[in-house]
Amino acid sequence: MASVLTDRSDAAAGGLTPRALRVLAGLVHSYSGILLGPDKQMLVSNRLRKRLAELGLESYDAYCERLATPEGAEEIETLIDLITTNHTGFFREPDHFRFLSEQLLGPDGPVKAGSRTPLRIWSAAVSSGEEAYTIAMVAAEAARRGQGPEVEILGSDISRRMVAAAERAVYGLDAVAAIPAELLRRYFQRGVRSQEGQCRVQSQLRSRVQLRRINLLDEAYPLNGLQHVIFCRNVMIYFDATCRDAVVDRLVRHLLPGGYLFVGYSESLNAASHGLESVRHGVYRRP
Ligand SMILES: C[S@@+](CC[C@H](N)C(=O)[O-])C[C@H]1O[C@@H](n2cnc3c(N)ncnc32)[C@H](O)[C@@H]1O
Repeated sequence: MASVLTDRSDAAAGGLTPRALRVLAGLVHSYSGILLGPDKQMLVSNRLRKRLAELGLESYDAYCERLATPEGAEEIETLIDLITTNHTGFFREPDHFRFLSEQLLGPDGPVKAGSRTPLRIWSAAVSSGEEAYTIAMVAAEAARRGQGPEVEILGSDISRRMVAAAERAVYGLDAVAAIPAELLRRYFQRGVRSQEGQCRVQSQLRSRVQLRRINLLDEAYPLNGLQHVIFCRNVMIYFDATCRDAVVDRLVRHLLPGGYLFVGYSESLNAASHGLESVRHGVYRRP
């Protein structure tokens, strides 16, 4: 009884009805792998409210109808942009960057300094770019020590809005607070006057990172060859188990033998079932 009443009053107020939530969750899941359970009603309605107003729509049901039209195909990308959680940070889960610096960019890493082959690293859910630029700083520091090989970094995300933010590479003071002062001085420019309070990744470091939109649910990934290292952190927690397993198997196929897959600290994998060896917390190796 209570849910019927809630349902009616929500609908009367143009609110997100359970039916509309099911339709939106189905679209989001089939497009991105992201699972939106019934408990996400508030999150979905909050994130889409402004978009409904922009489109002049009076209800979430009308928005679902819009998505079902031929023009709706483009709107699905906007829906995904609004629904995805993009939380990230420089040096997030720092043990991974220590491992990258000491093991993979060190003298015993998969590619030796001075080799003609670059070490290829892919940040596969790059969000606004912090992960890829952290990798670039760590690689640049290894090179300064005369240690690291050349590095080719690709950052990608399903969200065009996030890829555009990563391309801009402009961050607020809160975001750069996690960066050691010396690296901040070396690799960022501080904004002045109207840009006061903002920092931009310096152009040489930016030029080391290619950015592109890639959906991890796609059957094939448009990469420049197999990768030595893939970071795919804090995205598969939003997928259901079937999507997660399919994505991990596909990522493994894009790794060179001896290559490494990094996942988030809270995303442990059943390594053997994907043909991987566990190396340390959140780090796996393709034998
Ligand atoms: C929480 S952020 C993680 C960012 C970064 N990897 C980190 O650990 O800090 C998750 C990112 O995954 C992206 N994402 C979600 N589904 C995706 C998919 N199917 N393909 C590619 N990226 C996806 C989101 O747009 C979001 O930017």
